[in-house]
Amino acid sequence: MKINDAERDALYKVIFSRRDVRKDFISTPIPNDVLERILKAGHHAPSVGFMQPWDFILVTEDQTKNALKKGYESASLESAQKFSDEKRGEYQSLKLEGILEAPLGVCVTCDRERNGPVVIGRTIKPEMDLYSTVCAIQNMWLAARAENIGLGWVSIIHDDVLRETLGIPDNIEIIAYLCLGYVSNFNDKPELEEFGWLPRGDINQLIHKEKWTNKA
Ligand SMILES: Cc1cc2nc3c(=O)[nH]c(=O)nc-3n(C[C@H](O)[C@H](O)[C@H](O)COP(=O)(O)O)c2cc1C
Repeated sequence: MKINDAERDALYKVIFSRRDVRKDFISTPIPNDVLERILKAGHHAPSVGFMQPWDFILVTEDQTKNALKKGYESASLESAQKFSDEKRGEYQSLKLEGILEAPLGVCVTCDRERNGPVVIGRTIKPEMDLYSTVCAIQNMWLAARAENIGLGWVSIIHDDVLRETLGIPDNIEIIAYLCLGYVSNFNDKPELEEFGWLPRGDINQLIHKEKWTNKA
């Protein structure tokens, strides 16, 4: 099957217009068929040795979201202490999650023991199962954007809060908590870029020919 030009352009449009979303969520629920497509996109990600180590925990109840929001708030306070005095105020003014506003939360996990102790391709670098799960998340992120659904990754929360709130067993690795929902707006640029926190780097500084070169 060949990809035609319009299909290629659509893919790049999705890639370049994907954003991490934490505000502008609206309450419209995500229809089941749309959610199924997004989860299926995740499940069709590449995985080391075709291990498919992921699970997806769907969160819709306010009580669960409230517990996670509390976890975020204390982790955020703890995080603020790590920034310099001059950056701390700026950090605290950023909105870095949409746990309560997003109609759906999805916790993505990695079962490091799935399909046996020896997995093709994971014999030398065991962390490949974690990377595979991140591939699933990126597929979901792009699929969500193609559905005009915003997705935001919340990493400012301790695993034990997610583990306890969502009943995740100790042998399962927690990779991400994602907030999903329709949005009133997708920003053209990353919010951190708009805000002046960091610019996008110059790709030419990141490409090396044949060997690593130290660039200014
Ligand atoms: C692994 C990972 C963790 C992230 N965690 C957070 C987070 O906790 N809160 C947040 O607001 N954004 C989080 N982000 C989003 C990044 O800030 C965002 O991707 C980056 O600023 C570029 O913006 P864009 O995704 O809109 O292009 C995370 C992104 C990744 C890939």
